[in-house]
Amino acid sequence: MDNIKPREQIEKIEAYSPGTPVEEVQRQLGLTKVVKLASNENPFGYSPLAEQAMIEEVQKINMYPEVALPLLAGSLAEKLGVSREQLFFGNGSDEIIRLLTTTYINQSDEAVMADVTFPRYYTDVLIGGGTPITVPLVEGVHDLEGMLAAVRAKTKMVFVCNPNNPTGTVVGKEQLLHFIERIPSHVLIVIDEAYYEYVHSTDYLETVPLLDKYPNLIVLRTFSKIYGLAGLRVGYGLMNPELVQNLMRVKEPFNVNRMAQRAALASLNDDKFVAMTRERNEQGKRIYERTFSELGLPYFSSQANFVMVDVKRPAKIVYMDLLKRGVIVRPVGYPTTIRVTIGNEEEVETFVQALKML
Ligand SMILES: Cc1ncc(COP(=O)(O)O)c(C=O)c1O
Repeated sequence: MDNIKPREQIEKIEAYSPGTPVEEVQRQLGLTKVVKLASNENPFGYSPLAEQAMIEEVQKINMYPEVALPLLAGSLAEKLGVSREQLFFGNGSDEIIRLLTTTYINQSDEAVMADVTFPRYYTDVLIGGGTPITVPLVEGVHDLEGMLAAVRAKTKMVFVCNPNNPTGTVVGKEQLLHFIERIPSHVLIVIDEAYYEYVHSTDYLETVPLLDKYPNLIVLRTFSKIYGLAGLRVGYGLMNPELVQNLMRVKEPFNVNRMAQRAALASLNDDKFVAMTRERNEQGKRIYERTFSELGLPYFSSQANFVMVDVKRPAKIVYMDLLKRGVIVRPVGYPTTIRVTIGNEEEVETFVQALKML
């Protein structure tokens, strides 16, 4: 196919490499018990209200879903104190990141982001034909001053992942506010809060109340993490209604399916499930932190449902050694760091025992 080449940017892009699936490890290593702590999924499942809603909705699956998501938009707008016009829903927040870059990035535009952070920003900017500009983290935290210094006339977008995947760290309240204030108005500020509901730190900026003041501010959230609906694919963005209108022009017509809409709506009514997940996640995190300290392994203080730890050995080797013991983690970040999702009680114990045996 030498005469049919993809666009130039596409050749620079690596296909997304997801967390290794449980079934693959079972097949390849002949293991029966395998725990996956590689994709920051919710180990406690999802709300029973979501299940009931999906059972009811399945009977309507022959019909296309509603495009404006009126029920979900209404309920979420009320919960968050925003107008429906400020809400945009995507097939996961992944899709919203892609739509933002497709809609706003021109060929010569740049987008500033951290290194290391969620890899889709980088890839989607490249796919859009723009240039990603990366600014290294400082001790696992976004270097907001460095990122601000990287903003210039060509900059169209900046990404702040807060809490940051894969380090789990958050940026300080004052620092982030000061950053938002100083970003020029021609630059879109995308704050990805996929792990918002897990945050316990009091030094964390509530960004939604700032939307009216900063029309270039976009906040991304998802039902994939604390709500446990990763397999359904539904996320949302909060932003100026004009930005929403532009994304509506570009999106696929029926991007959020019926089951996802109904399950997300039902999940919003289950504060108990969210509180239970938050609490058990904290308990698991404390066990991880205690174990890492006992083993003398440095880790970043996490506000999310995963922790990044320095295993002081090549991460790929540690990943393989843990795999042989039936635990799937993610060798990401730096040469000797792995990211481990906080599992349920049994999974946490399995990982801790496996790590101690290495
Ligand atoms: C920081 C961050 N943003 C976005 C996403 C994508 O989430 P979704 O399932 O809503 O597409 C993830 C998923 O892991 C993530 O970690």
